[in-house]
Amino acid sequence: MVTRGVEFEPISVRFGAHVEGVQLSGALPSDMFDQIWSLWKRFGVLLFRDQTLSKEDLIGFSRLIGPLERHLREEWLDQSHPEILQITNMKQNGKAVGALGDGEVGWHYDQIYLRRPALASVLMAVQLPPEGGATSFADMTAAYERLPTAMKDRIDGRIARQSYDRFNRLYSTDTNADQKKIAEDVYHPLVRTHPLTGRRSLYLCPTMTEQIMGLPVLESDAVLAELRDWCVQPEFVYTHHWHAGDAILWDNACTIHRREPFDPNAIRLMHRTTILPPATAAVPF
Ligand SMILES: [Fe+2]
Repeated sequence: MVTRGVEFEPISVRFGAHVEGVQLSGALPSDMFDQIWSLWKRFGVLLFRDQTLSKEDLIGFSRLIGPLERHLREEWLDQSHPEILQITNMKQNGKAVGALGDGEVGWHYDQIYLRRPALASVLMAVQLPPEGGATSFADMTAAYERLPTAMKDRIDGRIARQSYDRFNRLYSTDTNADQKKIAEDVYHPLVRTHPLTGRRSLYLCPTMTEQIMGLPVLESDAVLAELRDWCVQPEFVYTHHWHAGDAILWDNACTIHRREPFDPNAIRLMHRTTILPPATAAVPF
């Protein structure tokens, strides 16, 4: 398929597209970026293969989308380019230099634990293990649209509490006192409206949404358990097996993702940028 010059192919039945023949390095012509931006809004997950991106290229492309955030986990930032968060099991002097090690990472929205969560993220494969470490994405717009009406009625207008501590207990390491202040529990709508497309999505994070406010705890637990199972059914999921040179840009307002474990003796290094939403629509609504 072609949209005004940029070729793409859907990568699953409902969402995600492979954008072909585009190098994100150097100066990307503005009309080409506009087409990529339209595809991002339409497909939610965009795959670019065979990229030869320097750190500056990755940052430069990400900045075309929006301002970048310096991730609160300072200990895992690239030392010379702090706009890049290292996702890796590499260690220096026995200490992790990046996030998330080699184990499974459960389904999540990046930064749902912040008042102003990221709008988008880019993940670039730098070094990969021979197998394992696939990343899956789930389409939370479709998951919401296909919810039974009775469940929609039950959750529409509800607010839920989000906990980064919960995620860290399950899949990462604890934050320090300063980081805890930045990432205190926050409250977001359980169904959010996309700030740029206007579409509604389930804003449920299987690893960080801890409680639906206004419901008895047992009922909240039961609804959350049902939604967690619902949103990651195969019909809503695309799983990506990485190749060297792959870069993926995803919409963090309407897709969640997870990572499969990989061999602890192998090295996996990914570079991630975190892109902020427009200031006028930064808080989920
Ligand atoms: Fe993530």
